[in-house]
Amino acid sequence: MKINVLTIKPLEFKGEMLVIPVYKKEGLPTDLSDLNKRLEGVISEIISSGEFEGELKTSYVLHTYGKIGARRLLLVGLGERKDFGIESVRIASGQAAKEADKLKIKEYGIIVFGIDKGLEPSYVAQAIVEGAELALYKFTKYKPKAKKSVVETLDLLSDEKFVDEVKRGAMFGSAYAEGVKLARDVANTPSSDATPEKIAKLALDLASQYNLPVKVFDTSEMKKLGMGGILAVGRGSDNEPKLIIIEYKGSDDKPIVIIGKTITFDSGGLSLKTPQGMEEMKYDKSGGAAILGIIKALSILKLPVHVIGILPAVENMPSGKAYKPGDIIKHYGGKTSEIISTDAEGRLVLADAIAYARDVYKPKAIIDLATLTGACVIALGNHASGLMGNDDKLLRKIEEVSEIVGERVWRLPLWKEYYDQIKSEVADIKNVGGRPGGAITAAAFLGSFAEDTPWAHLDIAGTAWTQEKTAEKPYIPKGATGVGVRLILELLKRL
Ligand code: BES
Ligand code: ZN
Ligand code: ZN
Repeated sequence: MKINVLTIKPLEFKGEMLVIPVYKKEGLPTDLSDLNKRLEGVISEIISSGEFEGELKTSYVLHTYGKIGARRLLLVGLGERKDFGIESVRIASGQAAKEADKLKIKEYGIIVFGIDKGLEPSYVAQAIVEGAELALYKFTKYKPKAKKSVVETLDLLSDEKFVDEVKRGAMFGSAYAEGVKLARDVANTPSSDATPEKIAKLALDLASQYNLPVKVFDTSEMKKLGMGGILAVGRGSDNEPKLIIIEYKGSDDKPIVIIGKTITFDSGGLSLKTPQGMEEMKYDKSGGAAILGIIKALSILKLPVHVIGILPAVENMPSGKAYKPGDIIKHYGGKTSEIISTDAEGRLVLADAIAYARDVYKPKAIIDLATLTGACVIALGNHASGLMGNDDKLLRKIEEVSEIVGERVWRLPLWKEYYDQIKSEVADIKNVGGRPGGAITAAAFLGSFAEDTPWAHLDIAGTAWTQEKTAEKPYIPKGATGVGVRLILELLKRL
């Protein structure tokens, strides 16, 4: 989508549609009174009659019959002022974009709103662009006849005073959205078309597009490195596992390593899952998909940070060659783990990646994103990602940016007792610590490999795709959400 920043008044806008933000219970904003007058008071009439109440996620379209430059107005609700924040902007903008698309409008204008509430203009502009771009996302690769979005251009109407900030925010919004859209595409793709090899190909393409260093380890290289977790999980599948490492070097600092669980399909292996909902396990690569999205957005923005993305891409399948409960495997670095369930595979592949990152890159921090446990969904539902780790400062920063990007996280404790739950009689640790605290013992497993490197773990099992109880938002269509991309980007931007 093309974004223009215009320093014109709403009355001067000429085009198919102009979006007017409206707070609930407040009537027409005073700075739009001239517009209202030209339309013989129809806007204030619609609001005062209660026909349009300004509720969030609602909108109201009216024609202007040539009385002003804009052919239509779209009143879009911001909700009550007391509840208003940057997330309201994203939602309202998403609502407007979907309405524009429904009306087959190629270009529309939107007033950069909310600034009076003390939000920074650049953030408002960013949220408007994110809301619109992400609301119009459709996964149509397998529906060639599906209608593409018709919206091509978005005009941001800004005050002269803020124009530079608005432009900067719009640029960030577009780049973040590009990252999220890539992550959604990868996660939405069926596993048969997103094998470890195909994900590696995608990473190689991304790397060559932006001139990034990239490495792909295959089975024989991983054998040499002793990556027993990845090899064991991958052994049951005909699709060979790959370890993908893609680097974005925007500074000479020590890197931050971001690792994404990339199980291209999680059947459970020999600890086979029940058929109910198994199709959703194509989304078990959402963590890795997010990593690719983050790297793409960083490359577009040329941010001055040093980031290494790691994707252990593995398919978890049962077969005569598959790894089995009771097996003991040796991870990169030598730690051993006893397999209780072959369905607790994510932690096994992440363990190798974390240990490798620590050893080879000596990073400032490691952050992993993983659709790791059903237990996290039981704990937090579909309304937050689980947040755990060993570094309070890092976790606090993640909590802080979570508010800004509108991706909720919630911290779970990671006390020593949880580590005790995964002690094994026959190996250093075991891959299941029982049902109690399942999301946390999974994190403890990862923490055993992060050791003293500052590390944060996001369990995105409940948030990576829209599920039964996911709250509807205009900018989050059904399927993969791309969660984590904007969160980590905002974190990196502020570090
Ligand atoms: N990929 C799943 C976790 C998952 C389940 C994510 C449902 C999203 C929705 C993971 O590999 C898994 O199967 N975990 C098991 C662990 C158990 C065997 C200890 C689980 O959560 O049931
Ligand atoms: Zn599993
Ligand atoms: Zn899994």
